[in-house]
Amino acid sequence: MTLVSKDILKAAEILKREELVAIPTETVYGLAGNIYSDTAIKKIFEMKKRPFFNPLIVHIHSMEQVMELAVDFPEKAQQLAQAFWPGSLTLILPKKNDVPDLITAGKDTVGIRMPQHELTLELLRNLDFLVAAPSANPFTHISPTKALHVKSYFNGSLEMVLDGGDCENGIESTIIGFENEKAVVYRLGSISLEDITSIIGPVTVKNNKEQAPNAPGMLEKHYAPRTATYLVDDISEFIDQHAGKKIGLLLHSTDHPDYAVTQVNYLSKTGHLKEAASRLYNAMHELDQLDLDMIVAQRLPDHDLGKSINDRLKRATK
Ligand code: TXA
Ligand code: MG
Repeated sequence: MTLVSKDILKAAEILKREELVAIPTETVYGLAGNIYSDTAIKKIFEMKKRPFFNPLIVHIHSMEQVMELAVDFPEKAQQLAQAFWPGSLTLILPKKNDVPDLITAGKDTVGIRMPQHELTLELLRNLDFLVAAPSANPFTHISPTKALHVKSYFNGSLEMVLDGGDCENGIESTIIGFENEKAVVYRLGSISLEDITSIIGPVTVKNNKEQAPNAPGMLEKHYAPRTATYLVDDISEFIDQHAGKKIGLLLHSTDHPDYAVTQVNYLSKTGHLKEAASRLYNAMHELDQLDLDMIVAQRLPDHDLGKSINDRLKRATK
């Protein structure tokens, strides 16, 4: 049985033994292990069934730790870190030689993030090594935003979930790297493009595999429920075309006509984008439990966090 507990010392003890602990962050739960232990890092890839070409994000608790990992901390990266850390921003920086290749999938860069979750920051302060943590879900499945999501994925094979409650932001961090000193967004996420550009000006977005072979995690199919999922603009038309099916709807707000379907889940009753992001994965987890024929998600307005949510919905439906 996987222990679900708030005991930081227990979590630290397990990590020191080169075992894994799922940790809460403000985005999603992560599956953490010591970056200097090949044993621990291999366990992360095995438990997630994640291919080794997909690098991991190192989680830090202080700005000084960046220089343990990176050979350069460009001006724009520093401005972003000042503005958003602790928070939902991952910076891709040129790595030091002694950062293990397993973490970076052999790349010359390393992903770094300071999460905004007091329990996890306190855990990190208690360790004399750094930890890496991908989202705590099997490869391509929906990311976990509750301790119980993690437990249901890995019960028995994982020793402990550090229970930090529900993840406040609910979708993964925004990932930013640098190409010829220009900022490039490799993954849309919890911090909107509008917020990023308000700090460093215009950025390039390379949010898919074709544009960014260097961000191998941006697979087309990802974050996916087991139930067939569709992203549509016209819900009524879709329902008419699929009469007789058990349909679960994922709607943006309560402002809509009556739909004759099995279940309706709301991302936000008032159409609030931040609330919608925070509920997205839990709503998908819930619908996926209902033995439906299909899940139908409504496209959100394509600005601010709506862009990031639409990105996740698109990947859930391919
Ligand atoms: O919000 C988050 O970022 C969560 C929490 C747990 O911190 N973590 C997370 O990790 O989403 P993961 O492994 O599920 O996604 C990390 C993404 C992957 O797409 C990976 O390819 C990319 O980050 N990545 C990591 N290091 C990279 C690097 N050096 N260069 C390019 N992409 C990198
Ligand atoms: Mg992930």
